Amino acid sequence: MNRKQPEWLDNAVFYEIYPQSFNDTNSDGIGDFQGIIEKLDYIKELGCNAIWINPCFDSPFGDAGYDVSDYYRAAPRYGTNEDLKRLFDEAHSRGMHVLLDLVPGHTSVEHKWFRESMKAEKNEYTDRYVWTDSIWEEPQGMGCIRGISDRDGSCAVNFFSHQPALNYGFYKPDRPWQQSMDDEGPKATLEELKNIMRFWLKMGCDGFRVDMAGSLVKHDDESKGTIKLWQNVREFLDREFPEAAMVSEWGEPDKSIQGGFHMDFLLHFGPSHYNDLFRCEEPYFSSRGKGSALEFVKKYIENYEKSDRKGLICIPSGNHDMYRLARSLSGDELKVAFAFLLSMPGAPFIYYGDEIGMRYVENLTSVEGGYGRTGSRSPMQWDKGVNAGFSTAPAEKLYIPLDSSDDRPDAESQIADEKSLRSEIKRLIAVRMRNEALQSCGEIEFISDGYPLVYKRKSDAQTITVIINPSAEKCTVEGVKGKIIYTVGGSAEIKDGSCFADGTTAVYIEE
Ligand code: NOJ
Repeated sequence: MNRKQPEWLDNAVFYEIYPQSFNDTNSDGIGDFQGIIEKLDYIKELGCNAIWINPCFDSPFGDAGYDVSDYYRAAPRYGTNEDLKRLFDEAHSRGMHVLLDLVPGHTSVEHKWFRESMKAEKNEYTDRYVWTDSIWEEPQGMGCIRGISDRDGSCAVNFFSHQPALNYGFYKPDRPWQQSMDDEGPKATLEELKNIMRFWLKMGCDGFRVDMAGSLVKHDDESKGTIKLWQNVREFLDREFPEAAMVSEWGEPDKSIQGGFHMDFLLHFGPSHYNDLFRCEEPYFSSRGKGSALEFVKKYIENYEKSDRKGLICIPSGNHDMYRLARSLSGDELKVAFAFLLSMPGAPFIYYGDEIGMRYVENLTSVEGGYGRTGSRSPMQWDKGVNAGFSTAPAEKLYIPLDSSDDRPDAESQIADEKSLRSEIKRLIAVRMRNEALQSCGEIEFISDGYPLVYKRKSDAQTITVIINPSAEKCTVEGVKGKIIYTVGGSAEIKDGSCFADGTTAVYIEE
């Protein structure tokens, strides 16, 4: 559990790129690798030193690329494998790192493996997916695909009904068709997963964000099988790619860290209470001051303790699966929310466009399986030019329509404005970079979980008290030592051992 993570991860600040919507350089209305390369300087200037790119492999895009049809080939709409390699090289030459999105739990129905596994005759891929041995038997507890194969059986799905579940075995098989983790089929699937990782790591990628990492071994209530599987991957990485970073979409850091991941995402669904802070009727970060961080803090501490008090939980500003932060917060509320996000343990992840407060685009027709998520995936707003600088394609050809409001935020204007959200985030990242206690591995101790939220961050040499006061009401925090090193929103001062801070303000105090 105390294994060292790649050094660059200790102070990584990630920028998540949804490649479809980031920057289109060939005027087809959809983003591409060259577009990302051209904006690496923008990302670096913001202060981020690492990026995570959503799946960019060949796919029919029924789930925006989370339905892979060839793990070894970049999706032609973004460019070639060589272009992706160039992206890695360009990032490295700027001291930046790149995580690809690895989808190990399922493929597209169009994957060659799946087409082969649907055949009645036994072949190399017969056991690549989770199949029952009769069309009349459905895999319990999972949806399934049935009636489209020559093979007599139903195939379990892992997410949408066009995403068949890859076969890593069952923790305790109890039906004849259920295979154990040690059977040949599951073993071959795992070896293939390692081949895929090896292929991209050799090409220069720095690691993976792993999709639904906890979903691999079936009927594995306590995740013991899935942890064992990832430990096997960990041994392979330690042997061949010890510098590769592994970040899981799992939401249970005690398990994922045991499995050998370096960091785990805090999920916006399940028991994390993440949405209490940002995305509910009365979010904690609203200046109305009617929300509550209590349950979030309770759950956070529980996970933190269970994962050995390491800074391994990543709290994203948002992602391609949830409403934009700016749907429920605005103005200084957003700045204070970022003062929190950028002073928590684990690596912060900024979702493209969140740094300028891009809005959720309401009432869009679903694109590529986005449904309600589509409004958070609209084109990046670079400037006030045609199509907000995203693409020179005709507006109707854009992957997703742009936010059509006259006052939509854009990066260029915010770079020029010292008071903008982007400028504030840039300063906050710089403060984090200068102060070790605020970085990924600094310890955290919560002092108060109401309004304001108060916590201490500690490294060997430094202690910083963070006061987060989203409410419009002023606050006083007693028993404060040290000097203020940074303030966001309003102003604050320390007098006679107490800190007095304005409403909707965050303060960092160094002891
Ligand atoms: C989680 C991804 O973030 C989401 O976008 C996707 O639809 C599912 N996993 C299925 O892969």
